[in-house]
Amino acid sequence: MEKGMTGEIHELIECLAENHCLSEKEYARLIENRDEEAAALLAERAVEVRKSIYGSAVYTRGLIEISNICRNDCLYCGIRRSNTNVQRYRLSREDILACVREGYGLGFRTFVLQGGEDGFYSDEVLGDIVSLIKTEFPDCAVTLSMGERSLESYRFLHDAGADRYLLRHETADAIHYAKLHPPRMSFENRIRCLYHLKETGYQTGCGFMVGSPFQTAQTLAKDLKFVEEFHPDMCGIGPFIPHHDTPFGSMAAGTLELTLFLLSMIRLIYPQVLLPATTALGTIHPKGRELGILAGANVVMPNLSPTGVRKKYELYDNKICTGDESAQCRTCLDQRMRAIGYYLAVDRGDIKK
Ligand code: 5AD
Ligand code: FES
Repeated sequence: MEKGMTGEIHELIECLAENHCLSEKEYARLIENRDEEAAALLAERAVEVRKSIYGSAVYTRGLIEISNICRNDCLYCGIRRSNTNVQRYRLSREDILACVREGYGLGFRTFVLQGGEDGFYSDEVLGDIVSLIKTEFPDCAVTLSMGERSLESYRFLHDAGADRYLLRHETADAIHYAKLHPPRMSFENRIRCLYHLKETGYQTGCGFMVGSPFQTAQTLAKDLKFVEEFHPDMCGIGPFIPHHDTPFGSMAAGTLELTLFLLSMIRLIYPQVLLPATTALGTIHPKGRELGILAGANVVMPNLSPTGVRKKYELYDNKICTGDESAQCRTCLDQRMRAIGYYLAVDRGDIKK
């Protein structure tokens, strides 16, 4: 990367800030020709617009990793079914409710139930857990992040009370998608699921890894076009980090710098979007999450899982917070946010439309 932003790059950034879209070619050009100065201008515009909508509040979601049992075999993921070195676990209804109760006391008003594609969580079992949480804590939002399911299943869980659903699209390029996933998974189904979620009435989140193997500026440009057109309520992005027991174990990790640049771009594409500074970002750099907020993110997702299972839910190597109590994570993040002039809101944290 050369120093000194060209006039063209400057114009692309101002155009994005004003019109909230660029052509796919322009997205790729901006990514390929970025430099420090461009990143600084982009972040400035992103933070401006984020502040005008959300002020200094950072929304929090308590993440509960309910199961690491997964029928899928994504090549990047540490809990893929081919990895026989994982000690598998699943949380019971009571375990999950205990996490929610603890989280509520700590100020969480959104709970994300995330897990592998574990057949144990049938519509009835998962629906029951969702409705128990919603009955006991009607002022809270429940987000599911449980992978690909049928339209009927998405409807059933929505009727049971689930408010939001996260399903990262992983990449918006079908050929790239095929390089990251086993043959039985399809890009078409992934995208279909996302449209099903949206039409069912969920606040829907998509997202992708930054620096995943075989990713290019062109595939990233497609990701950004997809975000622009799909208009998700949430968009989760974080660096790819290799997991030693996967086929991608010796690949390079995504960078902090590119992740921050993309966070700023996504904020400008959709100013209201809920954009987390992810745990993966906090894993590749000690100040990753703070830097994410300063690039335009407005959500953090501290871990609320029981300490005993956190190390087992290892999607990538060196995941942070695996030894910390939930209360510690909340306090830690609160301090980190205050140190940069923000604060953790005690709020469901719905999108402002
Ligand atoms: N590095 C970073 N993120 C990963 N995920 C899965 N494996 C990895 C990895 N090795 C992300 C995927 C998935 C989300 C739950 O975690 O994008 O959708
Ligand atoms: Fe978990 Fe800092 S957020 S210890």
